[in-house]
Amino acid sequence: MSTTIPSRTGKAPGGWPLLGHAWQLHSRPLEFLSSLPAHGDLVRIGMGPWPAYVVCEPDAAHRMLTDSRTFDKGGPFFDKARVLFGSSLPMAGWQEHRWQRRQMQPAFQSDRIEKYAVVMGEEVDRMTSRWRPGQRLDVTDTLTTLTLRIVTRSVLGAEAQDEAVAEVQESLHTVIDGIYQRVMLPLGPLYRLPTPANRRYRRACERLHRAIDGIIAERRASPGGDDLVSMLLAARNDDTGEPMTDVDIRDQLMVMIGAGFETTANSLAFALWLLSQHPEAEAQVHAEVDRTLAGRTATTKDLDGLTYTRRVINEVLRMYPAGWFFTRVTTTDTTLAGRRLPKGTALLYSAYLLQHRPELFPDPDRFDPDRWIGQNTDSLPRGTFVSFGGGNRKCIGDQFALIEMTLALATVCTRWSLHPDPGSTMTVQVRGTLGPGSLIMTCRPRSKPEEG
Ligand code: HEM
Repeated sequence: MSTTIPSRTGKAPGGWPLLGHAWQLHSRPLEFLSSLPAHGDLVRIGMGPWPAYVVCEPDAAHRMLTDSRTFDKGGPFFDKARVLFGSSLPMAGWQEHRWQRRQMQPAFQSDRIEKYAVVMGEEVDRMTSRWRPGQRLDVTDTLTTLTLRIVTRSVLGAEAQDEAVAEVQESLHTVIDGIYQRVMLPLGPLYRLPTPANRRYRRACERLHRAIDGIIAERRASPGGDDLVSMLLAARNDDTGEPMTDVDIRDQLMVMIGAGFETTANSLAFALWLLSQHPEAEAQVHAEVDRTLAGRTATTKDLDGLTYTRRVINEVLRMYPAGWFFTRVTTTDTTLAGRRLPKGTALLYSAYLLQHRPELFPDPDRFDPDRWIGQNTDSLPRGTFVSFGGGNRKCIGDQFALIEMTLALATVCTRWSLHPDPGSTMTVQVRGTLGPGSLIMTCRPRSKPEEG
């Protein structure tokens, strides 16, 4: 497979005055993005009235992701999101980000992930033990509850009160929907009107803040823990020696939970759907999980025996990367893919676009876990697999997510097979994340759930 593509820059056709390509990005984003490599390695589009370049070539994407000082977080949508998320890890500029990342990275080291994996096992057991033979489930919804509980308990501490976890679970959806709307449709003062939707959003924000503030106060009262909340409470600014404020800590925790549930739930839901459509792949997963688990709950010790399941996850992340586009902005005059870019140029990269280039992944719309035989995502040519981004802004939760998805898929598949209604279809939904929308499937037991 060759990754050498001549360097070219171009312009996307079909832009409208003022709107640019906003309509194409809104109405058929994946088709629009996939059409861009035909116009160059770096393709100019209009995001509303703002020009931006889409990076279509892996080497250029790699350079952009790994030089985070020159290509910093920023861009039109991003700046609106910053107003709502404060200066938390994904939002922080280069300098501030380095310090924040150092404070939080220990929470994602392998010894911590071992502890989170226990929570993952408990929550998958809780979910699968509630299913009944013949029950019809909205799989995406069910998995969203699963991953939200896992990430909330992992981030806030496994022993977090069930009421606090339930409160986060109930309010977060409303908050995230509200934020997405405010970023994509910036109607300013209209969001301050006392409409039912605005009031619902504000109430959900208050409940979410109260639940997380309660956990912060508990940890402050008994310091010295080794969870993320305790790490953030102990962090001191390099220059000033000042601790983080409670509001900063709350922002970090909310963003961490927000980034870590819909992404993994959607990927797992895509995986179950794809397996239901590819009986040969499903049979291979079943053979593997029956050999390795025989009905019990998967733990990190099983990962070496779950190589096919892991290939399924890689392939899902390639075909349907939950984070489908992100922006950057140049902090100085620079050159990318042979083009001079002045300071302040907005850039956009899309894992979906790069991972559907047929030169890199032949027949890219075909679900083929065997593409990953003999290689993992780290050994691919640079910039070709960017579902978790790259460089020092790479997803901090990548190992967490990969282990969670592998263990959850394996445990579900050793106990249950899930079947969509005959003739039903799946439509990819593109919002803040890429997801399969509502997926109704019927549970059939493979082995007794209580065997776990
Ligand atoms: C399938 C699952 C996931 C996918 C596909 C995914 C994808 C990504 C991507 C592409 C980025 C980089 C964005 C950019 O380049 O601008 C990112 C960043 C981030 N992700 Fe994930 N993510 C996943 C799961 C998680 C989980 C489970 C957590 C937390 C437990 C998490 C927390 C974060 C955070 C905090 C950042 C910002 C990192 C930084 O700027 O240093 N993600 N994620």
